Amino acid sequence: AAGASGGNDSYDFVVVANRLPVDRAQGPQGPEWRQSPGGLVTGLAPVMKRRSGAWIGWTGAPDEEIEPFDLDDMHLVPVRLSTDDVYSYYEGFSNATLWPLYHDVIVPPEFHRKWWDAYVRVNTRFARAAAASAAPGALVWVHDYQLQLVPGILRELRPDVKIGFFNHIPFPPYEIFAQLPWRRRILIGLLGADLVGFQRPSDTANFRRAVRRTLGYLARNSVVRVPASQQSPEHLCETGSFPISIDAGAMDALARDERIRKRAEEIREEVGNPRTLILGVDRMDYTKGIRHRLKAYEELLEDGRLSTESTTFIQIATPSRERLDYYKQIRRDVELAVGRINGDHSALGKAAVHYLHQSFPREEMAAFYLAADVMLVTALRDGMNLVAKEYVACRVEEDGVLVLSEFTGAADELRQALLVNPHDIAGLKNAITQAVHMTPEEAGRRMRRLRSKVRHDDVLQWASTFLDRLQMVGEQRERTHSV
Ligand code: ADP
Ligand code: G6P
Repeated sequence: AAGASGGNDSYDFVVVANRLPVDRAQGPQGPEWRQSPGGLVTGLAPVMKRRSGAWIGWTGAPDEEIEPFDLDDMHLVPVRLSTDDVYSYYEGFSNATLWPLYHDVIVPPEFHRKWWDAYVRVNTRFARAAAASAAPGALVWVHDYQLQLVPGILRELRPDVKIGFFNHIPFPPYEIFAQLPWRRRILIGLLGADLVGFQRPSDTANFRRAVRRTLGYLARNSVVRVPASQQSPEHLCETGSFPISIDAGAMDALARDERIRKRAEEIREEVGNPRTLILGVDRMDYTKGIRHRLKAYEELLEDGRLSTESTTFIQIATPSRERLDYYKQIRRDVELAVGRINGDHSALGKAAVHYLHQSFPREEMAAFYLAADVMLVTALRDGMNLVAKEYVACRVEEDGVLVLSEFTGAADELRQALLVNPHDIAGLKNAITQAVHMTPEEAGRRMRRLRSKVRHDDVLQWASTFLDRLQMVGEQRERTHSV
């Protein structure tokens, strides 16, 4: 798909995301590439490996000037972030303003004009990089809350390209969104796209309402009429929900691999062969409800409804956004709770909680999912939550129980999980107990339905649905503007 344009390679398909699929980290032998953390990369990497195109994003390290390079059939175009950009755009506006605002203000968002200036500056840089990599008429797919101004800027730079935007995290109710001092600019930025997609229908409805209330634009059904500006003619922006998924086939294959099955058995042995192994897997983030889950588990041990004689809990938490105060605080809270629970309830060789603040290769993650009888996903708010889908995809024997927060996007689809409100600790305790004691027949019935759901909507399907729709609305716009 590459062709020459102005001396640079240009591509018919361009993905723009804050992160590249790989992250530049310090290894024992100096800098090395690792898979970037988080669900966005888990979802997009398998898509990009099958469609040739360019991926524009940041390497995860400040002040690095790295030339475009090829990796696993993907063409990666690094965008440089200075130390101040990392502080003000990434840690500041993206993760201390937008992230908490879009996740139900679980912690208070901070509003700083300097951070906003950096957000505009960095979004402009990403839009220019996209404009330079896109072939005439290309499909450009912009991702997530860090880059909401890119569609608008890109439309001015390159009116010929078809622009899609997908928001991986929730879009908040208007009453919360309205707090944002730059709410108009964000909405205008997003509406530069031909197609704006969200995870859940409720996110899409929140966005349309914000557009009507803030801008007064007409929105008929799913289509917003965006009036002409000085730079661009009037156009239509389509909105809709496109729940993301995982590479279910790849996960299923890992779970059938003999080496990984053996590793799963080893994991069970290493934690003392409990009758019930409970698992939690999250980025270390205050949205994930790790404290609520630990509280419920601790009380169950205190009440004697669970015992470390027969049960153990493994909590894996990937390090995330570690310089931000609320992330330092959640880590402290979790570690304090783990220490207390183990002090009170562990015996030698029988830990109540095994806590791993580390990242693991996909194969090891699959082995953990295979080893676990009960999976706890108790997010207080989550766009989708791919961990829930990965657990289901790994349960090739059609056993195991998923306890799932109703505040995740995944809860819209995974109705046969034990759905919980993680704020309701008594309810959460009951759900965990129910999961631990569920009959194999009931667990199997539920898991079969969950598996057929995850198998049918996998991530390649998600990408094709979005991109086919984008192609169609983009062509409609071309026809309207050429007459
Ligand atoms: P988020 O995008 O908020 O991090 P998701 O549940 O959607 O949440 O996606 C998390 C992704 O990160 C999943 O693909 C999961 O397998 C992966 N992951 C989580 N913890 C680890 C870990 N400790 N090591 C490796 N991968 C992890
Ligand atoms: C979530 C966000 C992604 C982000 C990921 C990891 O999945 O939706 O945009 O990349 O978390 O967070 P990080 O800040 O490390 O990129």
